[in-house]
Amino acid sequence: MRRFDQKSLLNRRNLLVGGTVGLACTAAQSVMAQPSTEKKSLASIASQNGIIFGAAAAREIFVDESYRKLYLGETKSITTDYALKFDALRPEEKVFQFEGADALVEFAVAKGLIIRGHTLVWNENSPPWLKNKSKAQITKIMDEHIDKVVLRYKGKIDIWDVVNEPFWPGHNASGGYRQGIWYDVLGKDYIAQAFKRAAKADPGAKLAINEAHTERSDELGLAIRNGLLRLIDEMQNAGIPLHAIGLQGHLQPQFPSNDAGYVKFLEQIAARKLEIHITELDIDDTIYTGSVSVRDKQVAERVYAYLSHVLTVPNVKMISTWQLSDRYSWYNDTEVLRKSGATRAPRPLPFDSDMTKKPMWFAIEKALNGRKKI
Ligand code: G3I
Repeated sequence: MRRFDQKSLLNRRNLLVGGTVGLACTAAQSVMAQPSTEKKSLASIASQNGIIFGAAAAREIFVDESYRKLYLGETKSITTDYALKFDALRPEEKVFQFEGADALVEFAVAKGLIIRGHTLVWNENSPPWLKNKSKAQITKIMDEHIDKVVLRYKGKIDIWDVVNEPFWPGHNASGGYRQGIWYDVLGKDYIAQAFKRAAKADPGAKLAINEAHTERSDELGLAIRNGLLRLIDEMQNAGIPLHAIGLQGHLQPQFPSNDAGYVKFLEQIAARKLEIHITELDIDDTIYTGSVSVRDKQVAERVYAYLSHVLTVPNVKMISTWQLSDRYSWYNDTEVLRKSGATRAPRPLPFDSDMTKKPMWFAIEKALNGRKKI
């Protein structure tokens, strides 16, 4: 049973707790009074302001009870962090390992959480067995993968990141596309093919492109923004089903940004009648110096500035962080730590490693409550 209708991301459950509805409805139908007894959480604050708040989750929520409780208290949606990626599901050609994804999906369905499936097709982290395939073989593999995975969770997974990060100008491919197993064999047509296949497998799911680095106002960020807008126009002109754009929101204060200019980019997406989801919010705090409290304050100020601008755009419907606690951030990964040159534990998320709220939590609350009622 589909837990939301195609026109609006939110399901009836959200409407009961003060959520708003998607683009298809008017403000008059929107927010209902929040029961005063509900514990204040990022999810409840978000719902009162027309936003679904969630976070990426992985197997840690099954082994860490304090973390699982945090998700149950603070989120209304979860994104599958690793479990539904191609390399997680299919380490070998004849192997499909669904255990991790099944556990997350069943948990989310049981707890009434909206589920974002991340991600069907990505030109990164492909398993070695995908190499040296012909165009016909890769086409068959992609189609069968999408059919099998999307059908397995039909009616349970509400949103799919069908294609993740299609652009990477650093690869110098035509149009700034990201090279990799799918692009190299199929060209950029792999994108339309993936969306058509996913729409056929589950016509009730919301389908999104998910992209990184658009938050940057340097040459890289602007190139990706322009590529994304071109791709959206090509897909819409070809009648390819596309419902939302995921903008990851991995804030990188070491690079230039211009929040007012970013709003203009969001308005260009909104003008194309697409929902906007901030899908992987966190912040690389390596550049910040001083004590923990000083750095946490700088993190909160940057997150507030970014979110308060983003939330001025009515098409923004979801804010998700990339995990909830510093304890499980990808910024702790060895390789990421090495590359960042961090000399201390990263603090990129709204909760610290002891699951305690940080200034970033209050910055998100302030930005959400500052959103004019739409
Ligand atoms: O779970 C396996 C484990 O069984 C195995 O022993 C181990 C050995 O390599 O690998 C483990 O899987 C790792 C997985 O994270 C879970 O920890 C993969 O190797 C590793 O590549 C994977 O990294 C993830 C990365 O995406 C690639 O999938 C990061 O945790 C995850 O934070 C990162 O997330 C991406 C988004 O998908 C897209 N946007 C950017 C974001 C950050 O890079």
